[in-house]
This record gives sequence, structure tokens and C-alpha cells, in this order.
Amino acid sequence: MAITIKTAEEIEKMRIAGKLAADVLEMIEPYVKQGVSTDELDKICHDFIVDEQNAIPAPLNYRGFPKSICTSVNHQVCHGIPGKKKLKKGDVINIDITVIKDGYHGDTSKMFFVGEPAPHVKRLIEATYESLRRAISIVKPGTRLGDIGSLIQKYVEAKNYSVVREYCGHGIGLNFHEDPQIVHYGKAGTGEELVEGMTFTIEPMVNLGKRHIKLLGDQWTVVTKDHKASAQWEHTILVTANGFEVLTLRSDEDPVLQAS
Ligand code: MF3
Ligand code: CO
Ligand code: CO
Repeated sequence: MAITIKTAEEIEKMRIAGKLAADVLEMIEPYVKQGVSTDELDKICHDFIVDEQNAIPAPLNYRGFPKSICTSVNHQVCHGIPGKKKLKKGDVINIDITVIKDGYHGDTSKMFFVGEPAPHVKRLIEATYESLRRAISIVKPGTRLGDIGSLIQKYVEAKNYSVVREYCGHGIGLNFHEDPQIVHYGKAGTGEELVEGMTFTIEPMVNLGKRHIKLLGDQWTVVTKDHKASAQWEHTILVTANGFEVLTLRSDEDPVLQAS
């Protein structure tokens, strides 16, 4: 599929979808506590998206995915399926929200702490967020995809973490996953150049141990092969004339991400 450049009207719809996805992450925060099951989080998000936002939870039935959100706990890398299991103290969880509003998608995820995580896991999560923040900061027309991948890879590998290769960011719009693929490793100065009006996600998955992953028997949940922790954060980004706009920005985030 070719890369789509969004028109002004489409960008306005992407802004709305992005804001709704970010709002779901803000809404769910107080519920992410010891003793809650990931199924309960799924139901709260589902009902909020459908009843309050009049939007559609994109994961539900996407390629057969059975729930409305993805919940990936501890050594789960991504695409965890909500279930009966309850969160316990010290767990960390990625909640990945994608909503469809007026045909357009907004896709974003963040890490939540249940109680206080182990310090080494907290550092992994903070470094993963910082790699995303830095990658966003170089987004502008003319930046190449390899510049983004290389920045993330260098930043996290310098801390002895590893980057998951099998899953990547993606163009987004009328479709959940559009071209181009935004990989989180690579070589600066290579790859496609960003163009004003592109919308895509950056969503690095960073492992505490080795980069290798495996797929569980449910055919969705991705886990680290060595069962060490993994972290992920995701934003949907618009390339503007001089830089970027984070379409899924939350109110708790760094003002550096607010504009460029
Ligand atoms: N939200 C994920 C992404 O960032 C995709 C989830 S696909 C699903 O691209 F089917 F698991 F929901
Ligand atoms: Co995504
Ligand atoms: Co996502």
C-alpha cells in the first residue's frame, strides 16, 4: 500500500481520533490498581469508547483479535489479550488503545505501574519513553526513517537494552496499519524521507534482556524469549511543515512534545 498524505480535512479527523485515544489512557489510569483484572480494564475502556466517545475500539475483531484493547504485562511485549488474571503489586502493564472516529484511527500506548516496580524495570520503562520522546523530536520533512530507527536503537542499546525487530510503528489513517513501516532500529541517512501530511506511529518495544521474542499459543500475545521485562510506549504523529504534532499527547507529558 502506498504512503498516504493526509489533506487538511483528514488531519482534523486524525486530531480528533488521536485525542480520543489519549483520553482513554487518561481515563483508565485510576483503575490500573492491584486486584483489577485485565478483562475489567478492557470492559471499562470498551464502554467508555463506545458510550462516551461514540467511537469504535479498533482492536475488537481486528484480524480476529477478541478484545477492545491490548494489555501486555511484565515480560509480555505487545498484543496481550485481556483476561481473568488480576494485576498484582510490582507488575507493570502496557495498555494500547486504538479508536476509530469518523473513519480515522488514533493509536497510542503507555506503561502503568501497579505499586512500585523493581528499580531496574522502572529504568527500562523510562528509557523506552525517552527513546520515543527523542525520536519524535527529530520528526520533520526530510528526516529519514533510518534516522528514527537509528536514534532509538543507539539510545537504548547504550543502556544495554535491546530493540524488538519483529513489530514496528506504521502509517495510520483510514486504515489501522498503513505504509510505511517505522522500524525502531537501523541506519541514519537511509530509508524513506518524511513528508508534510504523513501520519504514523512510533512505538518502540524495548527489552531488558535479549531482543528475541516468541508468540504464545493464543496467536496474539508476544513475550520475551528470556522472560525478562519489556516496555513499550506509542504515539501517533503528524509531520507538519516544520516539525511534528503529537496527535495522541496526554496532559501529563513533556511540553517539548507539545509543539514544534
Ligand atoms: N495497537 C497495536 C499497534 O500499535 C495493534 C494491535 S492489533 C490488535 O499497532 F489486534 F492486537 F489489536
Ligand atoms: Co500502532
Ligand atoms: Co497501538
